[in-house]
Amino acid sequence: MRVTIFGTGYVGLVTGTCLAEVGNDVVCVDIDAEKIARLERGEIPIYEPGLEPLVRANRASGHLRFTTDAAEAVAHAQLIFIAVGTPPDEDGSADLSHVLAVARTVGRTLNRYAVVVNKSTVPVGTADSVRATITAELVARGSEVTFDVVSNPEFLKEGDAVQDCLRPDRIIIGADSARAVEMLKALYAPFNRNHERIVLMDVRSAELTKYAANAMLATKISFMNEIANIAEQVGADVELVRRGIGSDPRIGYHFIYPGAGYGGSCFPKDVKALEYTARQHGHEPRLLAAVEAVNAAQKRKLFALVERHFGADLSGRTIALWGLAFKPNTDDMREAPSRTLLEQLWQAGAKVRAYDPEAGAETARLYGERDDLVLCGQYAALEGADALVIVTEWKAFRSPDFERIRSQLKQPVVFDGRNIFEPKAVEEAGLAYYGIGRGRSV
Ligand code: UGA
Repeated sequence: MRVTIFGTGYVGLVTGTCLAEVGNDVVCVDIDAEKIARLERGEIPIYEPGLEPLVRANRASGHLRFTTDAAEAVAHAQLIFIAVGTPPDEDGSADLSHVLAVARTVGRTLNRYAVVVNKSTVPVGTADSVRATITAELVARGSEVTFDVVSNPEFLKEGDAVQDCLRPDRIIIGADSARAVEMLKALYAPFNRNHERIVLMDVRSAELTKYAANAMLATKISFMNEIANIAEQVGADVELVRRGIGSDPRIGYHFIYPGAGYGGSCFPKDVKALEYTARQHGHEPRLLAAVEAVNAAQKRKLFALVERHFGADLSGRTIALWGLAFKPNTDDMREAPSRTLLEQLWQAGAKVRAYDPEAGAETARLYGERDDLVLCGQYAALEGADALVIVTEWKAFRSPDFERIRSQLKQPVVFDGRNIFEPKAVEEAGLAYYGIGRGRSV
């Protein structure tokens, strides 16, 4: 099928590439000419494992093209995907200006029936606004072209985006037109093998499903962080509790890892946006507000542990940080817990030596040159440092040379913000250990 994707961010680029991979003719369009020029040179603007070879292969086969020419892209398409950003406004609501700008462009240029598929995470009711915006433009130019608007939220995770896209666990289609449903079913047929993954529903339910999924996952994390904080107080080990409750299939092992709080471009923004929507419709979202408050406190947890060990004044201290990205396998620093920690450490007068396998450049871009930040290699970060703090659970950090850590640090102490070490192993290596919710180490 002929597909056009507006927006070449994570969702748009990965979706477009995966749709090209199964044989569709895909055009990705973006208003950012610089980004399109880079993509045309084969440069991928994001770090996402497996994406680059797939983009290269599909460009070579002619199934994937990049352009800034929106009119040409609309003329190409039977299906037009909207996959542009919905950043939070100051009040927490989702900013729909990019989504509606695409709708206006579609309305101004559409010349035959197409299905407009909304993949951006958007508040309930946005499909109606997209429809109204396109209709207004069509009416203004006296066009009688028909179209449908469908909600088809995306559930890919950064770092696993290609696999999530090629092997989705569900394909949500929110539509009120049989013709549109048939087209989407045909488009997704290659991804819908072995068992039925398509869940058909009305547009508003599809829009809410996306927020409910992310809010549920965020809730699991904040719940576990709360239990970790209780475990710390009562002298229990949350890692044992986690295994104990995860074995109940109704609870499950996924997404119950306590840590330094959730970050990224989705959970923080989506929980806030859902809260906003709820309030807008007269419902006070008490649970969502608590999820957010627990997370905000948890992002300050690592600093609290450092402070407990060293005292509030950290001037003259140097802290080594392993992990800056909001999670492994990405260079994304949006809402990363490392940022809260960095800023608190600087505030208390400490210097930081930091290492991340991918997010060093992004950290340098965010904070620029400063005396109290040195970005360096994994073990170089320990040189002259008083303590090591693990903020992101990259695989490369899981089995470190503890002897080397102990001999390089001025004070033998490790703060494990993701519970990746066994406290006993660290302590046997002669290092003091602080984890999250591991009461025995308090
Ligand atoms: C999340 C969802 O997992 C995807 O399903 C969704 O499609 C995506 O948002 C989106 O809306 O676009 P992502 O933000 O890439 O994906 O990252 P996650 O892997 O979900 O991690 C989010 C945060 O939660 C990270 O900071 C991670 O460290 C934290 N986390 C995750 C925990 O603290 N504990 C856990 O048990 C799991």
